[in-house]
Amino acid sequence: MISLNVNGKVYNVDVPPDTPLVWVLRDHLKLMGTKYACGVGECGACTVHVDGVAKRSCVIPVGDVHGKKIVTIEGLPKNHPVKRAWIMEQVPQCGFCQPGTIMQVAYLIAKTPNPDPEKVLKEMDDIICRCGTYPRMKKAIKKAIELSKKGVKK
Ligand code: FES
Ligand code: FES
Repeated sequence: MISLNVNGKVYNVDVPPDTPLVWVLRDHLKLMGTKYACGVGECGACTVHVDGVAKRSCVIPVGDVHGKKIVTIEGLPKNHPVKRAWIMEQVPQCGFCQPGTIMQVAYLIAKTPNPDPEKVLKEMDDIICRCGTYPRMKKAIKKAIELSKKGVKK
């Protein structure tokens, strides 16, 4: 049995320890916000936070996160600056890549006290959006940083 703390709730799951975390989240915990796309850690669609760090859940064996704190898109507060900015800038097209992208941006903004939009954008280079929403993502990242600086509750 593997114990996971996901979005502040403790779950015990009976799965082989090498099961990728993304499948435990989706199939066992029914948290469908985390998406599966490339499956090899290359696109970012499956990004979640593990102990506060953005990680690609398709390449993390669930046994490696036993007892760790995991946050998925469902666990990010509704009024989080990144979620708000994404809505304000109407970023998604099909939406498939967006939960992972939002989790990545939320991590990048949180890890530096005074984030520089250009630096954050640079660190987003390996996120793949098949709909090409990058121009709107860029605007939303800048907006999210502004909102964070104004002290919008995370
Ligand atoms: S599905 Fe995990 S990085 Fe692409
Ligand atoms: S919005 Fe469709 S893949 Fe990014």
